[in-house]
Amino acid sequence: MNNRIRTDIAHNARVWNYWLGGKDNYPVDRAVGDQVTSFYPSIGEVARADRAFLGRAVTRLAAGEGVRQFLDIGTGLPTADNTHEVAQRIVPDARIVYVDNDPIVLTHARALLTSSPEGVTEYVDADAHDPEKVLAGAAEVLDLSRPVAVLMLGLLNFVMDTDEARSIVRTLMAAVPSGSHLVLTHPTLDPELGGEGNVAAMAFWNENATPPITARTREEFASFFDGLELLDPGIVSCSRWGAPEAAAVAQFGAVARKP
Ligand SMILES: C[S@@+](CC[C@H](N)C(=O)[O-])C[C@H]1O[C@@H](n2cnc3c(N)ncnc32)[C@H](O)[C@@H]1O
Repeated sequence: MNNRIRTDIAHNARVWNYWLGGKDNYPVDRAVGDQVTSFYPSIGEVARADRAFLGRAVTRLAAGEGVRQFLDIGTGLPTADNTHEVAQRIVPDARIVYVDNDPIVLTHARALLTSSPEGVTEYVDADAHDPEKVLAGAAEVLDLSRPVAVLMLGLLNFVMDTDEARSIVRTLMAAVPSGSHLVLTHPTLDPELGGEGNVAAMAFWNENATPPITARTREEFASFFDGLELLDPGIVSCSRWGAPEAAAVAQFGAVARKP
């Protein structure tokens, strides 16, 4: 097993997997996951809503917007309906690149590499703080002169500095052409979405787990889409994007097109 894996401290990818009902986690992840849930009981709903948003967003991009290439950064551990499964169900020859920097995700990457015979699925071990490396890996599989959907679901919250997070988005979106899309989800403390309860949970997380996390306001989240055209319904709780009747969770979701 990869010796970068630490089983003595909770890791986000594994705790997220625990909240989603997966089995790829250690006792320390379950203990921290349960503590966070005690502070913030809806965290499991947030995780499930985020995955359901992924399914709806990728479906719309593949079926409605003609997107054939996907760059999914901060992939997470394999679960049901990973990006390539959703996309290739609609477009069998879709090409997908997954990127994560967690060693446990790397050890499970082969479970992500079950491409349809017509399509391609690859995994790149890279840190989102280094978008040039992400793009270099992506360029080995994707044609960056053609539209790409760049997904960062629950990822920019691990880039603590908002200017740096904006810069990562700008670098990635500058490397792909008109007709490309940006797909983001991000936790918030926004009281309209019930996010206040997340304050204690995030403080606990930052003292006991890794990597550190931050929430962002609606305005900060909106700033990641500067220069892009938001698809309907704009910036909403990710649970309500494409499912307007659903109950809100404190996680923004949005999809935008590069003009
Ligand atoms: C909250 S999980 C979200 C997983 C998946 N995108 C989803 O929405 O279900 C965040 C993922 O981002 C990864 N991650 C965190 N910081 C990262 C970084 N700097 N570079 C690449 N991946 C990172 C974690 O390892 C984890 O797998």
